[in-house]
Amino acid sequence: MTKDKVLIFDTTLRDGEQSPGATMTHAEKLEIAELLDDMGVDIIEAGFPIASEGDFNAVSEIAKRAKRATICGLARANYKDIDRCWEAVKHASSPRIHTFIGTSPLHRAIPNLDMDQMAERIHDTVTHARNLCDNVQWSPMDATRTEWDYLCRVVEIAIKAGASTINIPDTVGYTAPAESADLIKRLIATVPGADSVIFATHCHNDLGMATANSLAAVIGGARQIECTINGLGERAGNTALEEVVMALKIRGDIMPFETGIDTRKIMNISRRVATVSGFAVQFNKAIVGKNAFAHESGIHQDGMLKNAETFEIMRPEDVGLSGTSLPLGKHSGRAALRAKLAELGFDLADNQLNDVFVRFKDLADRKKEVFDDDLMALVYQNDSGE
Ligand code: KIV
Ligand code: ZN
Repeated sequence: MTKDKVLIFDTTLRDGEQSPGATMTHAEKLEIAELLDDMGVDIIEAGFPIASEGDFNAVSEIAKRAKRATICGLARANYKDIDRCWEAVKHASSPRIHTFIGTSPLHRAIPNLDMDQMAERIHDTVTHARNLCDNVQWSPMDATRTEWDYLCRVVEIAIKAGASTINIPDTVGYTAPAESADLIKRLIATVPGADSVIFATHCHNDLGMATANSLAAVIGGARQIECTINGLGERAGNTALEEVVMALKIRGDIMPFETGIDTRKIMNISRRVATVSGFAVQFNKAIVGKNAFAHESGIHQDGMLKNAETFEIMRPEDVGLSGTSLPLGKHSGRAALRAKLAELGFDLADNQLNDVFVRFKDLADRKKEVFDDDLMALVYQNDSGE
């Protein structure tokens, strides 16, 4: 089966960094950009060049250093932002300008533009960006709360003015998966010229549906997913890169799409982003959480020791881990204890194992997790007959 390619557009360094408190230093941004480039991200949104001198310098430097990825900068719908963005990204071998404006009624009220004035602004700014750069992305911010007819109208204007990627943001995480698929599908079917551009999806996670909405948009026809490492981003964050990439890898049977991501690099970059942003990853976070490949209960551990597929739908090695973890706690059973003791070099007879197991359960009731040192102490206690 031939698979359509879905482009991965990472915005950890732009939307991700907009999370209150997630600011990264210049050196940290360069490091994360290098890791993103190396793992096969297609487009890196490196920052918002007009926002500060620091952002401008980071985007310029990332543009100069990138080896494979297209380097993109964000610009509002005005010439000053777009010119500044171009000055930063122009150093890349593959530069992109991403310009946006809020098109929903609430967002139109902020610059106080009526529908016609905004349409004219979109035409002028996309044309201006296109005169500077061959690769222009345009976004109607808050697209999912924009009137359908107006959304079609402005998307058509942006395409005619030369945008080659049309991004449809669910800026406030309002949409649901069925709507997300339907919106992209209807835009592609309705807007003249839609078949000559790539539609992108950019979802926020306010209702916890960003990953589902992004995948649904792909099913509807989007061929670029905008996402961040660990789902970092404004408020409840953006779509998590690791989630959409692994979902497409594991469920190729129902979503026959491929990405260029080397998934074995996921854990390393996840840990680096957590460290430099100061945003720890929750233990039960899909794919990259500490517990994503850990099993404590006896039934699960026994199943895992017999056949890893019993309780794991993906291989830990495929996301860059060395293996499954079977932490020992009060829910663990004899099979996991025996396996752990064997790993530590103890080959106990059944009656010895039974004795250690009784002591282990007693300790586990008093302690959240039983570590290797605890186990060794239990075995030696047993040997000395204490
Ligand atoms: O969420 C959003 O709408 C954005 C745009 C700038 C694309 O981040
Ligand atoms: Zn966003």
